[in-house]
Amino acid sequence: MEKATEAPPRFWRMFFELYESLPRQGPGSRACAVRALALCTGLPTMPDVLDLGCGVGGQTFHLAELTGGLIAALDRHVPSIERLRGLIAALGLEGRIRAVAGDMAEPGLPPASFDLIWSEGALYNIGIERALRVCHGLLRPGGYLAFTDAVWRTGDPPVDLRAGFEADYPAMGRVQDIVATIERSGLFSLTGHFPLPDEAWWDDYYTPMEARIVEMREKYANDGEALAVLDELAREPAMHRVYGEYYGYEFFVARAR
Ligand SMILES: C[S@@+](CC[C@H](N)C(=O)[O-])C[C@H]1O[C@@H](n2cnc3c(N)ncnc32)[C@H](O)[C@@H]1O
Repeated sequence: MEKATEAPPRFWRMFFELYESLPRQGPGSRACAVRALALCTGLPTMPDVLDLGCGVGGQTFHLAELTGGLIAALDRHVPSIERLRGLIAALGLEGRIRAVAGDMAEPGLPPASFDLIWSEGALYNIGIERALRVCHGLLRPGGYLAFTDAVWRTGDPPVDLRAGFEADYPAMGRVQDIVATIERSGLFSLTGHFPLPDEAWWDDYYTPMEARIVEMREKYANDGEALAVLDELAREPAMHRVYGEYYGYEFFVARAR
């Protein structure tokens, strides 16, 4: 979801029509959630969980299946929260998941009220340092923060690739930069980290995205402006096919001090 924020409104309408229809809005998978959860040793059997930047809840439903706890799922994009509420109701999970519209920078949730904070591909929106402070305040002592973030896998990515990320995530660093940020914060001890495999980019994200773009091209077949936007949106998965070895997503698990 690496897009310039100054793009025209038509772009954003098409962008959200595409993204809100996907099972998830960024790379990730159930298998990665299992692996990250396994690093959270000693969690209560019914943990209080907060999913920050939950989107339409791809990983929220994995958390509901993989933990016994109550989950608050928060996102600032209201249509995603509305869609998530519909899915929660359809699955009869109202007793397990509460979908909340809000800003993770100021979530308005009680301090020290969660055992686990989860966030896939979202903390960077407020900056990792600030996110660490917010999350530490919301976690009970010894609680876990499990999050993914985009990272460069090499120190010298191609110039056009770096330019592609410049608008959305200019501060994107390498794994060692995030590790250093966690350690420097003094708030968390790093428990572990691992890279997301390539299938976590494709199975629930880029493959459905490309299929949806094909459907939308048919829907907008007579609308040149819409087709131009779809060409632009199709560039992200295409770029990943060509340049995927230069960047990736890393799962980090850290424990509150
Ligand atoms: C890349 S998407 C990831 C969504 C979901 N976690 C997933 O992996 O499918 C990032 C999400 O963060 C949300 N977001 C961005 N800034 C936010 C903020 N300040 N507070 C809450 N949510 C935010 C966006 O609306 C979007 O749903």
